Amino acid sequence: IATASSNRPLIHLTPEKGWMNDPNGLFYDRADDVWHAYYQFNPNSTVWAEPISWGHSISKDLSTWEEKGIAIASNDTNSGIYTGSVVIDRNNTSGFFNSSIANEKRIVAIYTYNTPTSETQEVAYSLDGGLTFKKYSGNPVININSTQFRDPKVFWYQPSQTWVMAVAQSQKYSVHFYNSKDLKKWTLVSEFKQHGILGYQYETPNLVQVPIVDSTNSTKTSKWVLFVSVNPGALIGGSFVQYFVGDFDGKQFTPVSNATQILDYGKDYYAFQIVDNTPSDEVIGMAWASNWQYCANVPTSPWRSSFSLARNFTLQYANTNPESEVLQLISTPIYNGLAKNGTSYHLQNQSLETNSSLTFDLSGASNFTTGLFDFELTFSSNSSAFGNADFAALDIYLKGVNTTEYLRLGFEGNAKAVYLDRSHTNVNFVERNPLFSGQVSVDIVPAETLSETVSVYKIQGIVDRNILELYINDGQFVSTNTFFFSDGNYINTIDISTEVNKTFKLIDFQAAQYST
Ligand code: FRU
Repeated sequence: IATASSNRPLIHLTPEKGWMNDPNGLFYDRADDVWHAYYQFNPNSTVWAEPISWGHSISKDLSTWEEKGIAIASNDTNSGIYTGSVVIDRNNTSGFFNSSIANEKRIVAIYTYNTPTSETQEVAYSLDGGLTFKKYSGNPVININSTQFRDPKVFWYQPSQTWVMAVAQSQKYSVHFYNSKDLKKWTLVSEFKQHGILGYQYETPNLVQVPIVDSTNSTKTSKWVLFVSVNPGALIGGSFVQYFVGDFDGKQFTPVSNATQILDYGKDYYAFQIVDNTPSDEVIGMAWASNWQYCANVPTSPWRSSFSLARNFTLQYANTNPESEVLQLISTPIYNGLAKNGTSYHLQNQSLETNSSLTFDLSGASNFTTGLFDFELTFSSNSSAFGNADFAALDIYLKGVNTTEYLRLGFEGNAKAVYLDRSHTNVNFVERNPLFSGQVSVDIVPAETLSETVSVYKIQGIVDRNILELYINDGQFVSTNTFFFSDGNYINTIDISTEVNKTFKLIDFQAAQYST
């Protein structure tokens, strides 16, 4: 009998009980200032199993969530309400609403209905602010006689006053774009086919206009970004999200180059979705923080999986090569309203010597460990001191109260890579799951170059019980990874050391533990 595990995250959305995967129907209610998140859900199973329905949670701050129960259920136990999106039909283009429903509450869901023999797109509308939905009597609204046709993401395209849908024909590696005036009758207007990494299937496409910001953070112009999730086929194994930067005219997406880019270098960031109708049209998105390779086996109960934190996105010219004009997404985590609990640290200009580590106990005098903390480390790396060292590493150990379990986060100076070693965690799980253990790494570039040999990097981490989100150089590179310690063993100590004398200097270090 599985016992309930207490390592459920505090500020990452999880169901209280049961299985969760993709974010669905993410939107913001501007009338009541509430964030709504739906998700692929089966409350009666801890592995993916039909009937899949849309679970529902709401939040005031994107950090703490209140579960609201099933919003859209399947009529049939062999079939499921698969991934889809929500829009606000303010002007009642669909005709689903009468004047008793306020404009901001005209909530329409567009999703895939999956049966053993078909995948079609359906529409449903809510008359109670998003708690429950009525299925449109004319469903399906799109049927191309396919079993691999899913995950409609709809948004309003202002210039032509049209609804636009991106939807995946998964096994043909194609994103179909449709237009509609009323959310019911849809016309195919273009296809984006076989770009980037194909993997086994394309899933959960999303298209959004993203502002380009420069170093002074002022918005000049914008580009469109098309996100395509791929599973399996990720370079580091399993599931991942790639994106393309380009232009969109309401019908067709044209990439500026065929180069694909990686949204998050970790193993646990999939089925990314953009939030519709954000307070001031800022670009915010969330992902499922797991991987189809091992999601059914991770040691949590009676719930499985969480979302990532919400992130804000902008575009910036990559500084790898100033001439290349490559636009890159910058990710900024959103987490608010947390109370500091324990000892927090802030120190500057410390040299790191071998055989002496800096140790920071976050739990403080009260000895209370919440398992929720963040840290930010800006350091310089002096390559002239590397000498013949095979490993020129700065090591950050994140240790449990029971120190036999820890994460090792390293910066390898020779390789200019940040790697995460999560193999010293819950051994029972790690040993059974070779796909889970081992190192996850990300190649990075300096945030700043001070001289030919001295470069500056910045690493920010947020740990929430069993998930670590890493933001490097203020969100230029991101890596999201889950990890599993024995039940109730939370991280309370950050330990920083090096293997090469006088190579690394901590310019600035901050850390704090929180409670919700
Ligand atoms: C992606 C996905 C979607 C599908 C859903 C089913 O993780 O496979 O393509 O709609 O999950 O739960």
